[in-house]
Amino acid sequence: MVSEVAKLVDAHSGMLNPSIYNDKDIYRQEQENVFARCWGFLCHESQILEPGDFFTNYIGEDPVLVWRDSKGEVNAFLNVCRHRGNRLCRADLGNAASFNCAYHGWSYANDGRLIAVPGLQEGYYGEFDSSKWGLMPVAQLDNHKGLYFATFDPQAPSLQEYLGEMAWYLDAFFDRREGGVEVVGGVLKWEIPCNWKLPAENFGGDAYHGFWSHQSAIRAGFSNSRPLRGAAAPGTLISAGKGHGIIAAAAGQVTDLAIADVLAYEEGILPEVESRLGDRRKQVKPIVGTVFPNFSMIISSSRSFRVWHPKGPGKTEVWSWIYVDKAAPPEIKETLRVTALRTFGPAGTFEQDDMDNWEQCSRSGQGVVSRRYPLNMEMGLGHESYQDGLGAWASESRFSEINHRNFYNHWAKVMDARSWDEIQ
Ligand code: FES
Ligand code: FE
Repeated sequence: MVSEVAKLVDAHSGMLNPSIYNDKDIYRQEQENVFARCWGFLCHESQILEPGDFFTNYIGEDPVLVWRDSKGEVNAFLNVCRHRGNRLCRADLGNAASFNCAYHGWSYANDGRLIAVPGLQEGYYGEFDSSKWGLMPVAQLDNHKGLYFATFDPQAPSLQEYLGEMAWYLDAFFDRREGGVEVVGGVLKWEIPCNWKLPAENFGGDAYHGFWSHQSAIRAGFSNSRPLRGAAAPGTLISAGKGHGIIAAAAGQVTDLAIADVLAYEEGILPEVESRLGDRRKQVKPIVGTVFPNFSMIISSSRSFRVWHPKGPGKTEVWSWIYVDKAAPPEIKETLRVTALRTFGPAGTFEQDDMDNWEQCSRSGQGVVSRRYPLNMEMGLGHESYQDGLGAWASESRFSEINHRNFYNHWAKVMDARSWDEIQ
């Protein structure tokens, strides 16, 4: 175990050691102290509506099976057979009353009970206690506005406490209209040769890169936000606490692509959105964000949420869902689906720009000499203040690295902490 990760992160001066993107020991410690402790995203409720519906995902590198049982209760388990550790469910999603393990045929019901073991008499002489060998449940499971999260840590705070002020910011993406949102289609999955923290920090607060990284997409007409070269668009970065970060546009700013139907739809629903979200929505318009550690969402030009799955220090597997307001007309849903594919996805114009940069940034700490020089995240230091109306610290300008500093400060705290008491 690495100790004193805090030495690698200096949030006060805005310095960061690049080894955090490459070091194998740090990666192992992340699996232990970040992913096995924190709440991780599992699926959206629209994917598991019926009894027997299931969805398979990961928290860190641990496979998780979310399964609505025959009585309608949602449970989540380690997706690992208790016998010899085979992966139990191999499908992405579907419906099943039970699963038989492919190796020796142990069978589990959709409430996690072990219900059949071949050779109980011949092999176990009737002495095996099946009731003790059901699937291992997660420690806590909860959902916020249809987003299911779980943690393996019984000591972790409740989901609402974990989200804190971030809960409202999530609502600004997922609870704008009656009925919330629904997922469209399946899950886009692809790998990026980068460390998972690069995309997490980018969505959590990198409003600086947009005008430059995405210049070609902007010039080709893929964006409505056309800041002058080098000038920040209006808005602010919001540090919602506990490592969570939001990029917000100005309240009245148009942030969708110039598609007439979508712009008319957004204008038409604004009174409903404002009445559901309250006064704070009249101050800011959240458009991109990250729930610590690796769940991010976007509602600017595209609508998608994603998990940055760690698959080693230098590899991230992205799982990205497209979502739409459930109450939106079918033609708007279809337009938004196609738009999401064109902008953010493995072939999306914006996503491709980002992926290449994250790959190169992740490599910065591989060389011995490169590690001697800190990376810089001091933008906007001292130009941030606590805003009562936002319930959070916020930057004066959208060009700021306040959220980077808070993300890594919290990450270091979680990495070094021996218990949740030291994290809160
Ligand atoms: Fe699953 Fe043997 S590993 S039944
Ligand atoms: Fe980007």
